[in-house]
Amino acid sequence: MNVLLNDNFSLIKESYLFSDIAKRVKAFSEKNRGADVIRMGIGDVTLPLSNVVVSAFAQAAVEMGKAETFRGYPPEYGYDFLREAVKRHYLERGVVLGLDEVFISDGAKSDLGNIVDILGRNSVLIPDPVYPVYLDSNVMSGNEITFIEGNGENGFLPLPDEVEKKPYVVYMCSPNNPTGAVYDKAGLKKWVDFALETGSLIIFDSAYEAFINDDKPHSIFEIEGAKGCAIEICSLSKTAGFTGTRCGWTIVPEELESNGVSLSKLWKRRQATKFNGVSYPVQRAAEAALSAEGMKACKTQIAYYLNNAKMLSSVFSEKGIFYTGGVSSPYVWFKCPNDMGSWEFFDFLLKEANVVGTPGEGFGNMGKGYFRLTAFSSAKNTERAVERLKRVL
Ligand code: MLT
Repeated sequence: MNVLLNDNFSLIKESYLFSDIAKRVKAFSEKNRGADVIRMGIGDVTLPLSNVVVSAFAQAAVEMGKAETFRGYPPEYGYDFLREAVKRHYLERGVVLGLDEVFISDGAKSDLGNIVDILGRNSVLIPDPVYPVYLDSNVMSGNEITFIEGNGENGFLPLPDEVEKKPYVVYMCSPNNPTGAVYDKAGLKKWVDFALETGSLIIFDSAYEAFINDDKPHSIFEIEGAKGCAIEICSLSKTAGFTGTRCGWTIVPEELESNGVSLSKLWKRRQATKFNGVSYPVQRAAEAALSAEGMKACKTQIAYYLNNAKMLSSVFSEKGIFYTGGVSSPYVWFKCPNDMGSWEFFDFLLKEANVVGTPGEGFGNMGKGYFRLTAFSSAKNTERAVERLKRVL
């Protein structure tokens, strides 16, 4: 063949972090048949969908099988019933959204990657460490990246104080993946003020908002002025166990514009061209997850995972190992003991404890020497992992 390919792919790692881990674990399990491996690597939920979600899902599937209730293509921005439910969800936090500001998606990861379609060649500011999708999708598009360091001193919550004052596309994730650190109102306000002052755009990933159990902001739009400088991307994957069901949303404020051009207009055009929406049964399931009964079930599941996170964190408190997260987050992020490298610790933990985690290095250079465990396993497996961790650390 003689077509030109996107050379930028040569600049990213050959395979995605979690695919790499899966390959290593598969090789280990094949070599050590019968090893009882506990998986705490990828943040994938284990509790099943709640009853209220399942009945809405099933009911909608039945509707699709009857001529009088069958539906074809869904609206490209989502059914109004679900956009209304998302609006109500935000209103509970005092955030007022217009229906046209809510765009239903098949999950946060897709839109975090897709959003670059409506942006030009900007300077991009990415916290390090962070969820790899922000960096990879910008490298794929050939954008110039500046990293802002998270570290033990700033509690993995970098602030813009030292950042050069110019327009950036800034990616933020709070509660953070992988560190579990959560910005307070003052921290987010600093970022919003920076964005307004420099003409920057914040892409705010709030996929873990439901895990916040104190008064920290769940949405960037809880900060005054954010509607003039931010897009928020969220998902039901972790909130309602939708990792396999796939549904989320992106909020693009109507008033958001750059040099007189509306971002919402561009996003509508992008979605209408490249996206055919989320299936009707999934949107009904998502609507049910956001109902009062659905949210009650979500809260029970989140409490279960947070209890796992507490069990995990207690090991690091006990051993005097530096860690963040585990309180308002399903992730516990800790310093590898004995100055081990993060991949070295990955191999050590897999071999000595048969526990799979995620090497911090996979989330950026500042993650070197750190490690992430997820609280998404069953309580039983978490308890077993805790015993093993206590033994080997
Ligand atoms: C993670 O483990 O970081 C997440 O589950 C990955 C994702 O949400 O795509």
